[in-house]
Amino acid sequence: MTVEAGLLDRRSWVSNAAIYQIYPRSFQDTDGDGVGDLEGIRRRLPYLRSLGVDGIWLSPIYPSPLADGGYDISDHSAVDPVLGTLADFDALLTQAQTSRLKVLLDLVPSHTSIEHPWFREHPEWYVWADGGPPNNWLSAFGGPAWSKDEHTGRWYLHSFYREQPDLNWRHPEVQEAIGQVMAFWLARGVDGFRVDAVDRLAKDPDLRDDHPATGPWLLPLPPEYGTLRHVHSRDAEDAHELVEVLRRYAREVALVGELYRPTEELKRFVNHFDLAFAFEFLFAQWHPRAIAPIVESAARLGRIAWVLSNHDFSRPASRLGEENLRLAATLLLTLPGAAFIYQGDELGLRDGPGIHPPFDRAGRDGARHPMQWDATPTGGFSSGRPWLPPVDPEHRNVEAAVADPHSLLTLYRRLLALRRSFGGEFEIVFVDESVLAYRRGQHTVTLNFGEEARGAVGEGVVVLSSEAESQPVAPPRGAVILQREGA
Ligand code: NOJ
Repeated sequence: MTVEAGLLDRRSWVSNAAIYQIYPRSFQDTDGDGVGDLEGIRRRLPYLRSLGVDGIWLSPIYPSPLADGGYDISDHSAVDPVLGTLADFDALLTQAQTSRLKVLLDLVPSHTSIEHPWFREHPEWYVWADGGPPNNWLSAFGGPAWSKDEHTGRWYLHSFYREQPDLNWRHPEVQEAIGQVMAFWLARGVDGFRVDAVDRLAKDPDLRDDHPATGPWLLPLPPEYGTLRHVHSRDAEDAHELVEVLRRYAREVALVGELYRPTEELKRFVNHFDLAFAFEFLFAQWHPRAIAPIVESAARLGRIAWVLSNHDFSRPASRLGEENLRLAATLLLTLPGAAFIYQGDELGLRDGPGIHPPFDRAGRDGARHPMQWDATPTGGFSSGRPWLPPVDPEHRNVEAAVADPHSLLTLYRRLLALRRSFGGEFEIVFVDESVLAYRRGQHTVTLNFGEEARGAVGEGVVVLSSEAESQPVAPPRGAVILQREGA
């Protein structure tokens, strides 16, 4: 084996992996403070193992003033004391890896918290202007992307909240500093990183104005942010060179890129990543003729990580309706590439009401309510007062779903087990007004978006039906998978 092949092999696991996203503050509390912690995740590893996922991605675990739910980091090489200690992290990592679960951390290279010591100690690592905003760039969460620093009277750039100044990735010391952060976690043994906001690393060096939008973008944007075409405030021509720096520092571990871009526009980046998220399912019309082209183009591109939801968006149960969850699970877990499952989606958790005043000013609390482990009032999440209340543990919880052979969770388990036997080839074999069918090697998946039962496409024996039937029939808003005999 060549050295390069050997290195690649250390991360090839990710290309077809099923990865479970944990929002640590909302997964499992063990010290009664109402906030989830690393020890809670460690104790729940047997559940994740029995679900059948290959790994976990932890949303940020680092110290943070929580202006952006942890994506405003004040120390990249430490654990937030509310979540635990580095020793807790090491224990979690060791136990996960012993249970054959890989661990991806969230890497946030494009900005820090304004409370990060770097902001005062190394102001030159950030992007500044004198006398006022130098251009029309907007923050993704609304308002100008420039704010005045009251200490110096200068203006700093922030692509997100004003509490999150952007790092200047054109400064070699910034690259080195993030490289050291990666080295810190690599030395502890992590299996890779999900890289936040990759398309914000490279901005136009001349800070030219963005252009007015001429029509809607291919993915939805917040209304004010959508008034501009972000041609200079993100993704400068040389963006891939900066991404290459991340690749170098990541050495042999997996890198999953979060680029909020239509899949078609990911081409420039995917080579540096093992995977890039395809966000289209979060917004696509729930119709086979809308889903088919998305799948087709992503499959052509390769290196795709499919998602139905995450901590930023409405959950499938609320967005698509509970009647579509079995179909959605089958779609997510049978496509070529990797699949990311957001915690609680296997229970069909609905969006919660959030809380007043909100923790997240951009309105994303609803997707961050705690995991529901049992039917008690706090859902087994905490012995204290949860930072966000559980939504409906009496109706949906792990304990009940595990015991029910017809639950959505049981379907997730069966799909996760079956996907291990799928071949690499992928081909769409049928699309009409209700049905989308595709072949994965010897398996043919028939997804029925309609209200009437439909015959399974392809040949073979039924190896899975979303309604646990044994007939080669795709139930209404359900799915059936055939496997060619003798295969
Ligand atoms: C994407 C993260 O998923 C989101 O939660 C965060 O607000 C932005 N990046 C900025 O870090």
